[in-house]
Amino acid sequence: MSLTFNIAIDGHSSCGKSTIAKSIALKYGMRYIDTGAMYRAITLYFMRNNIIKNKQVDFALLSDSLDKITINFQFNSELKKSETFLNNENVESIIRGFEVSDNVSIIAQIKEVREKLILLQRAIGKSKNVVMDGRDIGTKVFPDARLKLFVTAKAKIRAQRRFDELTVKGERVTFDEILQNLNERDDYDTNRDINPLMQAEDAVLIDNSALSIQDQNDLIDNLINTKK
Ligand code: DC
Repeated sequence: MSLTFNIAIDGHSSCGKSTIAKSIALKYGMRYIDTGAMYRAITLYFMRNNIIKNKQVDFALLSDSLDKITINFQFNSELKKSETFLNNENVESIIRGFEVSDNVSIIAQIKEVREKLILLQRAIGKSKNVVMDGRDIGTKVFPDARLKLFVTAKAKIRAQRRFDELTVKGERVTFDEILQNLNERDDYDTNRDINPLMQAEDAVLIDNSALSIQDQNDLIDNLINTKK
């Protein structure tokens, strides 16, 4: 059974938004869009082209480059997941690494970057069966989404989950580095001038610090059922 409305999921970094969104997409036949991946892909482009270097942004180069960047998603039927493409290159794995994570919040604060990506996100959302996760989906991208979730968990719990994920992939990074990066990202995301992370008035708050995946899924299924 597929839904005919969009679902907006916002919240702090590494709180399981994408796990929730993917599971909703699978269960209700919706398209999942990870907007964080879009900010990550554009950050990778800027890193590769020296538009961001040592955390300093060259704004003149940035403005000139925006029209040269295309970002889209393609479904990998073997892996059964959607992958992010930057100018036709599959960047799904590299954008999850620590270097991109370390720069992305700076890029996500830039007005022109946000304008470009929000236009793209709204265009994708026109099909009305999209579940999208990010920081400003319920407040700016789809302010009229029928269901909005705001997901969070305690910072140390989120850092531990992220640490486990990255070390499995062989990344050499310490728990403290991750916790510091998470706190910095939360701080940037919450305090930036443009479209800061905040809970939309009509969003349902889910703190999953002590919630099992099953309990979380049940809670969300109930919410979706009330909106049908
Ligand atoms: O969800 P994520 O950690 O992959 O997001 C990467 C960064 O992009 C994060 O620091 C916040 C930013 N972001 C944003 O500002 N707005 C969005 N809609 C999605 C992500």
